[in-house]
Amino acid sequence: MSFPIQRPRRLRSSEAIRRLVRETRLAPPQLILPLFVCPGEGVRKDIASMPGNAQLSIDELVREAEDCRKRGLGGVILFGIPERKDEIASEAYDVNGITQRAIRAVKKEVPGLLVITDVCNCEYTSHGHCGLFRDGDVDNDATLEWLAKTAVSHAEAGADIVAPSDMMDGRVAAIRNALDAAGHTQTPILSYAAKYASVFYGPFREAAESTPQFGDRRSYQMDPANGREAMREIALDLEEGADMIMVKPAMPYLDVIREARRTYEVPLGAYQVSGEFSMIMAAAQNGWLDLDRTILESLTSIRRAGADFIVTYFARRAAELAGG
Ligand code: PBG
Repeated sequence: MSFPIQRPRRLRSSEAIRRLVRETRLAPPQLILPLFVCPGEGVRKDIASMPGNAQLSIDELVREAEDCRKRGLGGVILFGIPERKDEIASEAYDVNGITQRAIRAVKKEVPGLLVITDVCNCEYTSHGHCGLFRDGDVDNDATLEWLAKTAVSHAEAGADIVAPSDMMDGRVAAIRNALDAAGHTQTPILSYAAKYASVFYGPFREAAESTPQFGDRRSYQMDPANGREAMREIALDLEEGADMIMVKPAMPYLDVIREARRTYEVPLGAYQVSGEFSMIMAAAQNGWLDLDRTILESLTSIRRAGADFIVTYFARRAAELAGG
């Protein structure tokens, strides 16, 4: 009986009306750009599987960071590629490591820009696993010490937010305790709380040179089949003191984002990961998808599912396109 009184098309008849009734918006402060920092000077080493992204030396990183600030992005998240890797991820928690130096440079040269740091060990270990490898697996509790030291060294260097992505049990509590003991009671923790063992991290591992030399990450990252378990992971991280939570990857896990949004009140992020980026870029380069429209629709969908902010390699372009 509703037709012909009810005609939903009335509210779609012009862009002016569509704009008025649009439920989900995308704005530059909701977008965070990942940046890869490497040793050297004047280095811009393109990442083949991620067109438009490069490993940057600190001087180049600062230039890029300034551009992000000008565009009004929410911030950047830094990933370091160290000079040398070893069994114990020494450079991850070295106060003069690549990431710590990068943080200091960006905070000094681009003071208005929010700097988030990824806290993990896989870029720093010779074997590419996210912690101390012992007896065929990553040793959880030994790894917590490295993570805590790394987070403190990032905060000391000036990081605005630390973001542990390792998926060790108890890492948020370990990091919170260490930060507080070092006087960094005001440094928030953005926990990659629901992080899946995903094939979509493939291109990132080329970018960060962090592919495991043997085995995989399934004994610490989550099984893609599990949704309820994500709520439990988030609950534990919040109990341990996480200020914000993140779901990763994003588009294949929109149901998890939605459920997290419904269940928890804290700010919620989602990470549109390297494989999501590379799929879209590859299709666009083949002329199979319109790049700008795909960027907007994919990011809008992640926001619609419930993410407050999105870490995305499209942040710069998306900030230009956003605003409708
Ligand atoms: C570090 C880390 C990874 C990503 C973010 N932090 C790689 C991994 O867990 O293997 C992936 C990001 C992306 O694919 O864009 N542990």
